[in-house]
Amino acid sequence: MHSFKITPFRPDALSLTALLDLCFGPGRLARTAERLREGNVAVADYDFCAHDEQGLLIGSIGFWPIYIGEAPALLLGPLAVHPDHQGRGIGEQLMQTALQAVEETRFPVVLLVGDLPYYERVGFQVAPTDVRLPGPVDPSRLLVKGASADCAKLTGLVRPAPDLC
Ligand SMILES: CC(C)(COP(=O)(O)OP(=O)(O)OC[C@H]1O[C@@H](n2cnc3c(N)ncnc32)[C@H](O)[C@@H]1OP(=O)(O)O)[C@@H](O)C(=O)NCCC(=O)NCCS
Repeated sequence: MHSFKITPFRPDALSLTALLDLCFGPGRLARTAERLREGNVAVADYDFCAHDEQGLLIGSIGFWPIYIGEAPALLLGPLAVHPDHQGRGIGEQLMQTALQAVEETRFPVVLLVGDLPYYERVGFQVAPTDVRLPGPVDPSRLLVKGASADCAKLTGLVRPAPDLC
């Protein structure tokens, strides 16, 4: 079994683009979640990546500041693990490490678009139906993590919040 190492920094743009293209395919920039990254600034404190023993980038996670209605929050994503290295716990470890860094910060809620069966392992649940994205999204894939009281009162349009960085 090959080893991997998780470290707290943003990969260089070329390596990251290559990994994301491989994991998500060419249509990735058309996704609704991408509308929340355009014109936004990733929160560097929560950038983590995984490298193999040769130092090659094999996994990455990033977070972006957003407003859900008037509530400050973070968008999780993209989370990507190189196809040759999937199923080894790298994705879950990237999430656990980053979400631990997010805890007890000024962002009480994390939102993402993804599959509940994967993300519920780390505490995500389906968002209230009043939460809307700036484009089409399957409501069962709009997920949030945070204290129950904070998540229950979420409502309104989600938009980029570069002013929170
Ligand atoms: C989703 C992804 C990040 C998971 O990374 P990973 O390192 O393979 O995940 P882990 O090793 O932590 O977990 C693997 C487990 O999650 C399950 N899993 C992976 N993707 C899943 C999904 N979309 N829905 C449900 N379960 C999923 C696997 O079946 C496996 O289950 P097991 O532990 O019972 O065998 C990776 O597959 C990936 O990059 N996919 C392409 C990009 C993508 O879809 N990113 C997420 C966008 S929301």
